[in-house]
Amino acid sequence: MKNIIVIVGSPRKNGNTELLADAFIEGACSTGNHVEKISVIGKKIGGCIGCNACYRDAEHRCVQHDDMEDCYRRISIADVIVIATPIYFYGVSSQLKCIIDRLHNPIRSSFKVKKLGLLAACADEKESVFDSVITMYRAVLSCFSLDDGGMVTVCGVSEKGNIAGNPKLKAAEEMGRRI
Ligand SMILES: Cc1cc2nc3c(=O)[nH]c(=O)nc-3n(C[C@H](O)[C@H](O)[C@H](O)COP(=O)(O)O)c2cc1C
Repeated sequence: MKNIIVIVGSPRKNGNTELLADAFIEGACSTGNHVEKISVIGKKIGGCIGCNACYRDAEHRCVQHDDMEDCYRRISIADVIVIATPIYFYGVSSQLKCIIDRLHNPIRSSFKVKKLGLLAACADEKESVFDSVITMYRAVLSCFSLDDGGMVTVCGVSEKGNIAGNPKLKAAEEMGRRI
């Protein structure tokens, strides 16, 4: 049994990213894992301001006291982290990027995470839209010596709910079962 955290980076409730994440979660739960979802919806998480106060503080506290405090706690016990993002201008959503940047904090050396996974959705029909996010994902795997838990990318989904019936939902469920 693994502790899995799925960070859903879309501010659109029940949007394509969340439905993709839910399919993954269904698969991961079906094989007995403990899965928690962190959604950016309703959270106030500022971007890193680069002050490096967390490097000087004995407990690596951030000067920003916001919802990231709860995220640090939840992420710290995860064996697996899955990032789910809509593509925003060829990158991850700004809301998710704030969370990722706030992990530039030495507190992360106490994290247990061994494996990462990626889920992403975009409106365009071209798979190349995911290139920059996949490059970032692979760089993070390499930098932190993490195992690749797999990725599912879904093109051609623009409006909320467009992903319904997409065979990639099954692929995400399967990724969850295998992770
Ligand atoms: C600010 C913004 C930027 C976007 N940029 C892109 C993009 O660069 N390429 C693309 O294919 N789709 C882009 N999209 C479309 C979303 O990726 C697409 O609608 C996706 O399904 C949204 O996921 P959601 O339903 O989980 O919010 C953008 C949407 C928004 C709101």
